[in-house]
Amino acid sequence: MNTSARPNALSLRLSQRQSGEQTLLVLALENTLAEPLDAWALHLDLPRPASAEGNTRQLSRIGSHLEIAPTETGPLMPGALCELHLVIDPPLQRLSDLPTASYLTFGERIFEVELVAHNLPASSSPRPALAKAPAPACPIIPTPAKCQLSAGTFEWEQQACWQLTAEAEPAIEWLHHMLGTAKNQSHTGNLKTEIDTSLAREQYQINVTSEGLVIRASEAAGFTRAAASLVQLAEPNSSGALHLPCLAIDDSPLHDYRGLMLDCARHFHPVAVILDLLDWMALYKLNHFHWHLTDDEAWRLEILAFPELTDTGAWRGQREQLPPQLGSGHRRYGGYYSQADVKVVLAAASLRNITVIPEIDIPGHSRAAIQSLPQLLQEPADASQYLSVQFFDDNVLNPGLAGTYHFLDTVLAEVCELFPGSLVHMGADEVPKGVWQNSPACRLLMEREAYTQALDLQGHLLRHVQNFLSARGRTLVGWEEAAHGEKLKHCALICAWTGNDAVAATAAAGYPVISCPAPWAYLDLAWDNSPEEPGLYWAGTADLKACYTQPPFPENFEGEPVGVQANLWSELLCSQSRIEYMMFPRVFATAEWGWSNNAGSDWGNFRARAAHHLGWLANRGVHGRMLSELD
Ligand code: ACM
Repeated sequence: MNTSARPNALSLRLSQRQSGEQTLLVLALENTLAEPLDAWALHLDLPRPASAEGNTRQLSRIGSHLEIAPTETGPLMPGALCELHLVIDPPLQRLSDLPTASYLTFGERIFEVELVAHNLPASSSPRPALAKAPAPACPIIPTPAKCQLSAGTFEWEQQACWQLTAEAEPAIEWLHHMLGTAKNQSHTGNLKTEIDTSLAREQYQINVTSEGLVIRASEAAGFTRAAASLVQLAEPNSSGALHLPCLAIDDSPLHDYRGLMLDCARHFHPVAVILDLLDWMALYKLNHFHWHLTDDEAWRLEILAFPELTDTGAWRGQREQLPPQLGSGHRRYGGYYSQADVKVVLAAASLRNITVIPEIDIPGHSRAAIQSLPQLLQEPADASQYLSVQFFDDNVLNPGLAGTYHFLDTVLAEVCELFPGSLVHMGADEVPKGVWQNSPACRLLMEREAYTQALDLQGHLLRHVQNFLSARGRTLVGWEEAAHGEKLKHCALICAWTGNDAVAATAAAGYPVISCPAPWAYLDLAWDNSPEEPGLYWAGTADLKACYTQPPFPENFEGEPVGVQANLWSELLCSQSRIEYMMFPRVFATAEWGWSNNAGSDWGNFRARAAHHLGWLANRGVHGRMLSELD
């Protein structure tokens, strides 16, 4: 890549080379401005280990955000070049590893820096895109338990008129919203919904003949799942009018929990994006929206008792309390969900029979909260030294401080008021080693409780939270590390995320398990090793076949399988189009494993359905990663 910089931006050329065992990143900055620059610093986001080398010194690092400068002083004259050096590990491998939105500070002034060249490899040939594929006879994702096709069609648009039971009304409203058609209703309609109390909650039956259709379910959730199948089956005929194939379906899910997590902290996703996501979830019969609302990089939920959390914690930028992260740039970046916004999301989720699970991630991943409420959450005398996986050294709540409990009780009281669902996710992942070791407050707590290790402190805090939640009728959910302190009651649901071993170990420790291991459930992972495929790859890459062929519960699994979940971490998910690209088609595999009892058994048929749905979604403006002949 080699282009010229925007006017008023400095240009940066980035090259990577081996220097013995080490990978050296050379950042060649050219002063394309008309004035000399003195005592300047370059700011860039590089979420990987990096150490300044040679003539370069690191001024600061907070998370992904690095501030570096040359060691020698003296102005950088107009037209002059300065090379800065970083040793990095691992090397940059794909375009989405490149730093974006870098900038230079010079006194109080800020100049943008444009990456105009790099020497990362490019794929030799572009991938062929197969937008459309012939639909298999029954194209529904996830595969229905029983689907019997017969000859003929029902001409939906010419003849459709609903005769509805009250329980089915929201589902049929949603069905027409998805099809973009108007709903006709009368007492003698040929599209009937009937209650059958012998059916399970999400079970449904559909019978389509050339005369009309009947849907049976026991309650609203079953009608919503039936509506999802009908949306998928409705196809335009040659004149564009929708029709349905004649068929009989009797369908019900394998697991009651089929989840999707969206990280709204690393990048902010507006309510409109979440509403679209809820439509897609309902379309593929996913029924738990796990809403990751807080992390080191931001706090996104309005808490009336602590306006600081969103006044401070929802915003990043060079002039904000929280620095830029993950390419968010020097300008004020962010946003949060007001309690009114949350109610909009909850209403939309409820209409689609989706449970919303808020996540307040503690005790790690809490830097945004700590920076927002330092008087409550910081212990000035704490001399503990640690570094989180994401390079934060000040991101863990302190279980020895009274302020921590006041903070959590206040926040969770509002969370329980706001969210009606029975599940509240409390995170508990990735607490770094070394934390709390030199905290006087933690030492006192350990002495008082006769604790011997840091894990006891984590368990102590989580047990407090579990008791608080259960007094309000809520069940605690946590990432797999929540089980490590061995202080939680075993009714906690645990999301096992590091791999199959964690799925088995969590079950062996006696916890109900939500299976979401990174190798197939982390949809932020890159598809393959092509440099153009965006994504992280710390847990490998995950193409559709990998996601479809890895069973979420190993054969020898002994325990309570609650269900499955796909996770959309947002370090690189900075737009709706990126979400769509990472999510589709891989989320189809999660839907299949959550619902169908023969998932993983027919790759050819699944691939054909996935290709068909990618085309179907693209026709509606939703652009996933197309399948090529190689996939
Ligand atoms: C996680 O990926 N830290 C749950």
